[in-house]
Amino acid sequence: MAVEPVVYGTSERPPRGDYARAGADYTCPQDYARYTEQDHDTYRRLYARQSALLPGLASEAFIAALPSLGAEDRIPRFEDINTRLKPATGWEIVGVPGLIPEVPFFTLLANRKFPVTDWIRTPEEFDYIVEPDIFHDLFGHVPLLFNPVFADYVQRYGQGGLKADHLGACEMLSRLYWYTIEFGLIREAGGLRAYGAGILSSSGELPYAVQSPDPQRLPLQLERTMRTRYKIDSFQETYFVIDSFQDLFDMTAADFAPVYERLRGLPELAANASGN
Ligand code: PHE
Ligand code: FE
Repeated sequence: MAVEPVVYGTSERPPRGDYARAGADYTCPQDYARYTEQDHDTYRRLYARQSALLPGLASEAFIAALPSLGAEDRIPRFEDINTRLKPATGWEIVGVPGLIPEVPFFTLLANRKFPVTDWIRTPEEFDYIVEPDIFHDLFGHVPLLFNPVFADYVQRYGQGGLKADHLGACEMLSRLYWYTIEFGLIREAGGLRAYGAGILSSSGELPYAVQSPDPQRLPLQLERTMRTRYKIDSFQETYFVIDSFQDLFDMTAADFAPVYERLRGLPELAANASGN
């Protein structure tokens, strides 16, 4: 994420972060001087715990790209990551104060700019935080932006978001984001693996999503996924599985306008609705 678009600025829970620092496009410079030693230590401990969990659970492409984030023992500087990311796929990361609204979010993605929240959770939130912080955004999302096919998918999602906004279809499209970019699973030669950032940045959900017998795992189907509601404050009850990033990219190439039209006539499905 930065942005789980649907949770931005609900009345019960306004977004955390200082939006006075942000420009019209919602980006802000990473306020590096503001990080305390405790902040760096939180990042170091999160990184150590999470990277130890990856073998056998995270997708190969993710594991291969993780070292490109650089520093493991301190919060990395965005500009340092960008010196590697830009030449690799033409993406760059930009700072944001937290969750941002849908249209600016889509606009950044369409321009190959990935918004990264610049603050880090408190030590009390070490195990769980609802809202994305710098650890979720960097560790969860940025490694796969080094993968050319996945990087193209994220840009195309942003372009699709701007279109969905005109068509009043953001809610349907955001479910695709949720069940792929945030909570996607992929079938690899070695077995089932996670590629979604919400899974990869969570110490509890990573083994659960890949190995627990409890959740349902269905092959990703566009319409099924876009009809399925999701929960933002518990492990997922359903995961959708792809065979490759290329498949995901090809599956989403079509014009969604007729798909949205068709889906408007169909009921939504609960997060735990069974079967395809
Ligand atoms: N193909 C979609 C459309 O025409 C856009 C899209 C691409 C959506 C990739 C999601 C992912 O609206
Ligand atoms: Fe995210």
